[in-house]
Amino acid sequence: MIEIKDLHKSYKTGSNTLHVLKGINFNVAEGELVSIMGSSGSGKSTLLNILGMLDEADQGSYTLDGVPIKNLNEKIAARYRNRFLGFVFQSFNLINYKTALDNVALPLYYQGMKRKERLERAMAYLDKVGLTAWAQHLPNELSGGQKQRVAIARALASDPKVLLADEPTGALDTKTSYEVMDLIQKINEEGRTILIVTHEHDIAEMTKRIVNLKDGVIIDDRKVDQVKALQHV
Ligand SMILES: Nc1ncnc2c1ncn2[C@@H]1O[C@H](COP(=O)(O)OP(=O)(O)OP(=O)(O)O)[C@@H](O)[C@H]1O
Ligand SMILES: [Mg+2]
Repeated sequence: MIEIKDLHKSYKTGSNTLHVLKGINFNVAEGELVSIMGSSGSGKSTLLNILGMLDEADQGSYTLDGVPIKNLNEKIAARYRNRFLGFVFQSFNLINYKTALDNVALPLYYQGMKRKERLERAMAYLDKVGLTAWAQHLPNELSGGQKQRVAIARALASDPKVLLADEPTGALDTKTSYEVMDLIQKINEEGRTILIVTHEHDIAEMTKRIVNLKDGVIIDDRKVDQVKALQHV
């Protein structure tokens, strides 16, 4: 699903150049659930943003579902992003003045889906994350865990091949984190490919593979025996 070869990325600030990714090689097969770990500043978000086509590498190749991701114009990049990728962030990134339902339906609006169809579809995804009763509520009326579940429903609504989550449990307490991980595990069991950036070992152990980044390279990449989140909830 994802093939990355010798990926490099630097940031230039003034006269300084910061070499953040120094030759990343990494493949992810369809249906995997992978966590990316590493200390603060090790380049986890940089890598995830490149995988999510929110940023471009300076060097190396990236192939997503057989499509080489390079030098795409903004329109085509946006189309691929929509078709292939769903995003979940630590801070949820919901639109405050829109209901849970409208937040989930918004990406479908951008895809040109008709109103009735997109609301039905958004409702089905809210149902999937257990929030049918909260459809008409605004984000500030929801708990952190509920907000993240809305964000997950929104990410899934366009049926992406890959779900990318940058510290999805970073703003949540332990119990709520495990509930969100339980949902993520269920979505993965349905066959969805998922990559999660996390700082927390207990969260990483709920995935099936842990990739460790240090000083711009992968220092460890191993399959793990997945801990089921539900046994902690
Ligand atoms: N747009 C940018 N411009 C300049 N430097 C950047 C930019 N984005 C990230 N960096 C720098 O690149 C390095 C890697 O950042 P990145 O956000 O990928 O780290 P991270 O592993 O996600 O860290 P954290 O765990 O704190 O989220 C950091 O030193 C950061 O300051
Ligand atoms: Mg980060």
